[in-house]
Amino acid sequence: MNRRNFLKTSGLAAMAANALDATPAARSVSDRARVTVVMDESTGRLDRNLLGQFAEHLGACVYGGMWVGTDSSIPNTNGLRNDTIAALKRIHAPIIRWPGGCFADIYHWRNGIGPRSKRPTTWNLWWGREESNAFGTDEYMEYCRLSGASPYVCVNVGSGSVREAVEWMEYCNSNHPTTIARERTANGHDKPYNVTYWSVGNENWGCGGAFTPEDYADRYARYVNYLARAAEGVKVEFVACGNGGGDWNQRFFETLLRRPAGRGILQSVRQLSIHHYFGDGAAVDFSDHDYYGLLAQVANLEEILRRVIGTIDEFKAPNAPPAGIALDEWGVWHPVPGQGPDALLQPNTLRDALLAAVTLNSLNGFGSRVSMACIAQVFNVLQSMAFTRGAQMVLTPTYYVFDLFQPHMDAKGLKTVVESPAYNVKEEKTSISRNYLSVSASLDESKKQVCLTLVNQHLTEALEVETELAGGAGATGAALRQLTSASVHDQNTFDRPNVVLPSAEKRVSVSGRRFTQMVPAHSVQALVLDLA
Ligand code: AHR
Repeated sequence: MNRRNFLKTSGLAAMAANALDATPAARSVSDRARVTVVMDESTGRLDRNLLGQFAEHLGACVYGGMWVGTDSSIPNTNGLRNDTIAALKRIHAPIIRWPGGCFADIYHWRNGIGPRSKRPTTWNLWWGREESNAFGTDEYMEYCRLSGASPYVCVNVGSGSVREAVEWMEYCNSNHPTTIARERTANGHDKPYNVTYWSVGNENWGCGGAFTPEDYADRYARYVNYLARAAEGVKVEFVACGNGGGDWNQRFFETLLRRPAGRGILQSVRQLSIHHYFGDGAAVDFSDHDYYGLLAQVANLEEILRRVIGTIDEFKAPNAPPAGIALDEWGVWHPVPGQGPDALLQPNTLRDALLAAVTLNSLNGFGSRVSMACIAQVFNVLQSMAFTRGAQMVLTPTYYVFDLFQPHMDAKGLKTVVESPAYNVKEEKTSISRNYLSVSASLDESKKQVCLTLVNQHLTEALEVETELAGGAGATGAALRQLTSASVHDQNTFDRPNVVLPSAEKRVSVSGRRFTQMVPAHSVQALVLDLA
């Protein structure tokens, strides 16, 4: 871990120096920030898939979190866990990426269909546990249907074949009277699933085959050549494997362009997948330095996104819409063991929730350029929405952030200008300065409402925030919800499941184009304004 120094900037240095030693409860001094919401400048639609989920056959994510089996005493629907389904439904989880992750490139879908007693038991090479194959395509589709999420399937490029992928699409989407489509009917699902989102491999520069970008481009082109035909009348979107670093994306696009009909293949890339994980210090016993160090890492993600957008634009055909960025794995990765039935099971504190809120605000700032984001992973693995143990389920602080961000789904992103005191985090070679206040805004035109999500990252100081709605109607009232807790180390556990909870929605009196509100230290607020 790098040695860092935390310093406060912008004329407030004294306060920051104190902040590091102070107990939050002992301090009450507030500071000021200003937000201008530019009502007539949109960043594009904020795709509902920005609040997406990722489920991999890893640890207890699927087996435990989603699947308990038909004989289980844990309430279930055909073996699928009712409580986790209901939890996802409540936050309108828009999409669930599956079956991996690294697991996707060792997964053979045929092992997971038909009578469960006949399915083979295999070994999960990446995550060191037995794979019963009890949860396969039909169980996944049923889980998506019950929770209201769209399926997003990642096909096996690393150790699979084009034929296997095409047949999987046929099983999922075909309406023809083929043997494979009839197999789906025999397995209880007459109607095609009409899966839209298909990812062509996962991290194919690493666990997904360790390809060069040139090799991957050739494979991508072959897969898509056939998958696009197999899609027929069903609307499908291909997600290609990208990389946040190095020159992978550039070389991938260049190689596609060199192929016969290269421009067409390049345009088949509707979304480019990027993964990004954060980490600083221990999961729970982190220092104040680690706290700010983690939050400041969102700057690195922003830098990566800007670079990837630059490459996408460089290769974009004139008049064609640019490929979106699918940040289809992101979240905090704490130092925990990575093998076995509890692999990558990590605590989830308020610090993690704040990181999620700052990241989501940042993604909203990129508007329609980021088309999807799937937090890793939905249950019991990495920065999850919930933990399950036997019949118990505990919702994490991060879950509640996803709850608070609901009003942004499919709304029109609005440009915001923020003036805020800032903190500095010094790494060995660089220094990052970040505003304490993170904000994003969107307009729901049909409801005539503006949603502002505000995060005050300051450990100990409240912020007084003055907001101006510039260039549009003023507000007539607002509803406020807030997530915070006494300490950023607080978490929800099986013994104490309700330590970090959002406040109930309360009406606040706000009127006109300018108003002021207090945002407590280390808190997230969702303020939904009714417009005149
Ligand atoms: O989410 C855990 C792993 O992280 C995924 O399997 C892989 O894609 C990434 O490296």
